[in-house]
Amino acid sequence: MDIRRLLDNKKGVLLAFCLLGDAGADSVMEPIQPLEPATGLVPEIVALGKRLFHDTRLSADNTVSCAHCHKLDLGGSDNMPVSVGVKGRLGSINAPTVYNLNTHVAYFWDGRAPTLESLVEAPLRNPVEMDTDWPQVLAKLEKDSALVEAFEHGFPDEGMTPATISRALADFMRSLVTLDAPLDRWLKGDEGALSEAQLRGYRLFKNYGCIACHQGQAVGGNMYATMGVMGDYFKDRQRPESIVDKGRFNVTGEQEDLHVFKVPSLRMVAWTPPYFHDASAKTLKAAIVTMGRYQLGREIPPSDVKDIERFLRTLSGYHPLFRERE
Ligand code: HEC
Ligand code: HEC
Repeated sequence: MDIRRLLDNKKGVLLAFCLLGDAGADSVMEPIQPLEPATGLVPEIVALGKRLFHDTRLSADNTVSCAHCHKLDLGGSDNMPVSVGVKGRLGSINAPTVYNLNTHVAYFWDGRAPTLESLVEAPLRNPVEMDTDWPQVLAKLEKDSALVEAFEHGFPDEGMTPATISRALADFMRSLVTLDAPLDRWLKGDEGALSEAQLRGYRLFKNYGCIACHQGQAVGGNMYATMGVMGDYFKDRQRPESIVDKGRFNVTGEQEDLHVFKVPSLRMVAWTPPYFHDASAKTLKAAIVTMGRYQLGREIPPSDVKDIERFLRTLSGYHPLFRERE
């Protein structure tokens, strides 16, 4: 009997437990769930958000759009150690993907933005990103009568304001869910969706304990954790510590939040090197080794690293704007 298919039906859960006892098959209570499309979005608003996401007028000198750093066809990030903003200015932290954000506890590496709406103003005002402000942006966009009209249609009571611009961008980002990744197809009962080696990688991911932090629909994003649970990552890194390395401490001021970060979603991880907030890992293999060492206190042997990498590559799904597929 296929337990996974049984689990599709909630009533099957109890039955599955009865059948399996503690036999420990793969499928009982998987720590990762298939991604679900966002619900309740208004297509017209999403389309407005998409327009704005690609609009360079959201930056001081009309050169940088959100998509400049969050390249949707390349997995939602920029593949740079730090991002390049207006006038070639360099940022101080690695840009995460904007795909699959719906189940995150909060946004940014340190979780300082509680909602996607509240996040929008940050890149706009950041001097090394878009370096502008709402009055400047509105002054430019208000000259675009087609856009103003589209806002009046989409938001009849409000028209185009900082709040509606933020809502449109946020709803567009909510629509960026990658569906039908090989792992999700496997979780839904398609046994052929993962190869033996990929499945071995998934078991290793669970058995090593990666799932203690990387779990749920987004395989991360739903909790915070210290970088360096089992060792002093920042001391060993041999690079002076910067403000951003303090992580969530910068938000709460609590000593226990020093070096604490939102656990990143691994959903598009095959597409978003380099890795970690400081881009210290150039490859997925290097990131897996570092995670074993500093989060789990384990030296993961190369053959296991390879299988875990194979598994991580099964987490990328499909979205019409994400054209390149593995
Ligand atoms: C110059 C590059 C750049 C531009 C332009 C930019 N971003 Fe980002 N984005 C980043 C970086 C770097 C981070 C990580 C910042 C941090 O966590 O402190 C980030 C983080 C984010 C996140 C958080 C993702 C997560 O996992 O928490 C979202 C969402 C986001 N940006 C959306 C946008 C939107 C919307 C725009 C346009 C209004 C935009 N970005 C413009 C570089 C950029
Ligand atoms: C104790 C919680 C915890 C455990 C256990 C853990 N991770 Fe992580 N993982 C994190 C945190 C926190 C980060 C972000 C660290 C940073 O950027 O400084 C991260 C980052 C990553 C990244 C980089 C993602 C990106 O986009 O930059 C990968 C890949 C990763 N982990 C894989 C794994 C694997 C594989 C395992 C098991 C061998 C594992 N993790 C175990 C918390 C954890």
